[in-house]
Amino acid sequence: MIKVRKAALIHALAVSSVVLLAGCSKEPEELPVSFNKDVMPILQKHCSECHLPGGAGEVASGLDLSSYEGVMKGTKFGTIVRPGDSTSSTISILIEGRADPSINMPHGDRPPLSKEETDTIAKWINQGAKNN
Ligand code: HEC
Repeated sequence: MIKVRKAALIHALAVSSVVLLAGCSKEPEELPVSFNKDVMPILQKHCSECHLPGGAGEVASGLDLSSYEGVMKGTKFGTIVRPGDSTSSTISILIEGRADPSINMPHGDRPPLSKEETDTIAKWINQGAKNN
């Protein structure tokens, strides 16, 4: 009985030190992503042309990607960012090419985003999609 408890305690300690180590990690992916400095320039480069008030994408879907508020508001059908969960966020599904080619973004013959750019947006979402 005591042996079992000891094992459980050791396990608990091992788990918590792993968590502590992860918290101390200096890996680049742990650095906070800034909406204004990192995410906005990507949207301006690839999306704003159509997703500004009056642009083709904004008129068709209601999605205005020119401000934090617009990004978080989403389209007239619903939100495109799920804070903490890039996997199920519509914006990541579309820019990572996980949707049908006909609806992936950006539209038409525009070049897709680089892996670095889609990763930056995914990290920002996974870190809580803050207005930072
Ligand atoms: C060339 C114009 C154009 C560009 C550039 C563009 N979009 Fe769009 N977007 C549209 C249009 C038009 C729609 C309306 C729906 C459709 O036609 O698929 C749309 C719709 C969307 C939707 C809603 C999709 C849905 O199913 O509800 C999202 C999300 C989106 N765009 C994100 C983006 C992102 C992110 C970028 C930049 C990486 C981007 N778009 C770049 C034109 C564009």
